[in-house]
Amino acid sequence: MKPRLPSDFRSDTVTRPTTAMRAAMAAAEVGDDVFGDDPTVRALEAAVAERLGLEAGLFVPSGTMANQIALLVHCRPGDDVIVGWHAHSYAYEGGGGAALAGVQFTVLGHTGHFDAPTLAATIRGEDASGHAPTTRLVMVENTHNRGGGVVLPVDAYQGLVDVAHKRGVPVHLDGARLWNAAVAANVSPAAWAAASDSVSVCLSKGLGAPVGSVLCGTRAFVRRAHKYRKMLGGGLRQAGVLAAAGLHALEHHFERLRDDHARARRLAEALAQLPGLRVDLSRVQTNLVFAEVVEGARVLDAATLLSRVSEDVRGVVSGPQTLRLVTHLDVNDDDVTRALAAFERALVG
Ligand SMILES: Cc1ncc(COP(=O)(O)O)c(C=O)c1O
Repeated sequence: MKPRLPSDFRSDTVTRPTTAMRAAMAAAEVGDDVFGDDPTVRALEAAVAERLGLEAGLFVPSGTMANQIALLVHCRPGDDVIVGWHAHSYAYEGGGGAALAGVQFTVLGHTGHFDAPTLAATIRGEDASGHAPTTRLVMVENTHNRGGGVVLPVDAYQGLVDVAHKRGVPVHLDGARLWNAAVAANVSPAAWAAASDSVSVCLSKGLGAPVGSVLCGTRAFVRRAHKYRKMLGGGLRQAGVLAAAGLHALEHHFERLRDDHARARRLAEALAQLPGLRVDLSRVQTNLVFAEVVEGARVLDAATLLSRVSEDVRGVVSGPQTLRLVTHLDVNDDDVTRALAAFERALVG
């Protein structure tokens, strides 16, 4: 018998398309999407835009491309973009903001989210003397990945949008995991998205599609985004096979995110009981669990701990003392039980 592979908690991006999703992909009607001929891509873009309460959508290969296009549409080189601590577009997109749109970032707070008064005090308008850069965009991530999958409540988000709009600054919502926020808060994703100037959502994370994000906004925004998608090499041809996976995911895997959240909670609560690990349970609101190796643990750091459990569990090191575990479509209750047993053996014996 083949040895059982370790349960993979590295990311919600590791999922493989289900049999039903592959069937939907195989059956997709397709055309050349660069000519605007792919009916399945059109259907996906319309379905996502409608769910977000926005006028139009653009299918793109990745969340990174969606965020980078948003920067290109909203900003010019030398502009300032306000983001939260460890925002994906600032901390993880290979410096694309600087290299492609030529923007600089002002980073707020220490948890990922920031509040309206702080934002109001940070926005910089046109400076007649030419000394200061001008704030041209506010980017908000919800849920916040590095912040622990924490949900920014609708009221708090609306407060940020109000401040930004009062100063004439648009807001881009990096909603790679907006679906998780919506399920956790029991509201429609449109509760955040419809107030935004542009929104990117991922289909390839909790929803379990193999590829794809949709960048949404007004029709005028999407027209401009379309040009940048081509420029970045994201104009795809018979992309309907991919869009079909996205449509299937939206229809069948959205409510299922509740299971991921319940499993993350179970994992976090049990890990928090183990000696040498600290988990801030108040931040475990969706499918991400961050655990910190603390003084007195039987292991020195997060990398050592993950190496000790590697036959049963895969996770990622996200700081010298911090590891991240993510629940998703391809881990079940048994995987959580297995992971907990492995961590207990490593930390208790
Ligand atoms: C908050 C956030 N935004 C954007 C992205 C980028 O998505 P992709 O991996 O599809 O480029 C990620 C990926 O993890 C993310 O967590």
